[in-house]
Amino acid sequence: MKLLVTGGAGYVGSVCSAVLLANGHDVTIIDNFSVGNRDAVPAGAKLVEGNVADKALEVLSSDTFDGVVHFAALSLVGESVEEPSKYWRNNVGQTLSLLDAMRDTGTKNLVFSSTAATYGEPEKTPITEDMPTAPTNPYGATKLAMDYAISSYAKAYGIGATSLRYFNVAGAWGGFGENRRVETHLIPLILQVALGHREDIKIFGNDWPTPDGTAVRDYIHIKDLADAHLLALESNTPGNHRIFNLGSGDGFSVREVIDTCRKVTGHPIPAVEAPRRAGDPATLIASSQRAMEELGWRPRFTDLETIVADAWTFTQSLGDRAHSAHK
Ligand SMILES: NC(=O)c1ccc[n+]([C@@H]2O[C@H](COP(=O)([O-])OP(=O)(O)OC[C@H]3O[C@@H](n4cnc5c(N)ncnc54)[C@H](O)[C@@H]3O)[C@@H](O)[C@H]2O)c1
Repeated sequence: MKLLVTGGAGYVGSVCSAVLLANGHDVTIIDNFSVGNRDAVPAGAKLVEGNVADKALEVLSSDTFDGVVHFAALSLVGESVEEPSKYWRNNVGQTLSLLDAMRDTGTKNLVFSSTAATYGEPEKTPITEDMPTAPTNPYGATKLAMDYAISSYAKAYGIGATSLRYFNVAGAWGGFGENRRVETHLIPLILQVALGHREDIKIFGNDWPTPDGTAVRDYIHIKDLADAHLLALESNTPGNHRIFNLGSGDGFSVREVIDTCRKVTGHPIPAVEAPRRAGDPATLIASSQRAMEELGWRPRFTDLETIVADAWTFTQSLGDRAHSAHK
């Protein structure tokens, strides 16, 4: 397939682009490098530098594209609370331009990165797709708005679309992984301690209603996540918008993640306990039953040690290119 990938210089976009290329697809990336890295654009992908809203129509009109995989977004929860305008414009505004470009060029196959944050604080776990959506921050709200926009575009313009609601994506594949200037994700933050780029890791809350008192999250290996995108692209049907949760279906506490990182890296990784953060749910675990049944998706790398080991191999390979090395 000839595919447009937005945000292909970011973490998920770079790995997915590498997986698409490895499966024989033709990949054109649009990225403005607001977050992504130039060295994360996989060899073999064509690069168009710029904003999705400015470049989508130009790229999609330049040839016949079979589909679009839309990763480009801003995704820092705290920043979205402080600067909602930036998030609504960048996430929703740019997505509407992309959807218009798809409509205008007759491009009818879309896979979109949605998020567990659309559910907010769930009433129960595991979270299924029919549970209420009630995002607790503007980031999650922009993603939910995009899901709504995609539904109506799919129906009116015959686009076949899938929103994949990722839980905590982690690990690395094919020489690509997490290397952000501003890092907020637990595993890369812990690994920065092991690299000596950060003194300790903060544990926010030790009194959650969980087995060891720390928050529990569902970690999905980036390669399993990427495979789901391929399955979605291959099975979208015109006019239909499907929504699937993607997680490994298992929860690991913050303490368990830190212990696994200690084991994998051999570093003591000092941890400091801090108060709970507002808006953090105690437990977030996905039910990926629907993706398994309807996409035929099977996560293969559900072992936390494998996820951390792959992330650690990648993090070490960065050397001086690690953004955390320059703080
Ligand atoms: N990483 C996770 O655990 C996770 C979980 C749930 C959902 N998601 C979603 O998956 C997607 C990818 O996440 P990620 O972790 O790879 O993020 P990332 O920040 O690493 O990558 C996003 C990429 O999009 C680019 N970008 C942003 N706005 C753009 C614009 N207007 N025009 C062009 N390029 C633009 C950035 O430069 C960056 O390269 C995001 O939409 C995110 O919301 C990620």
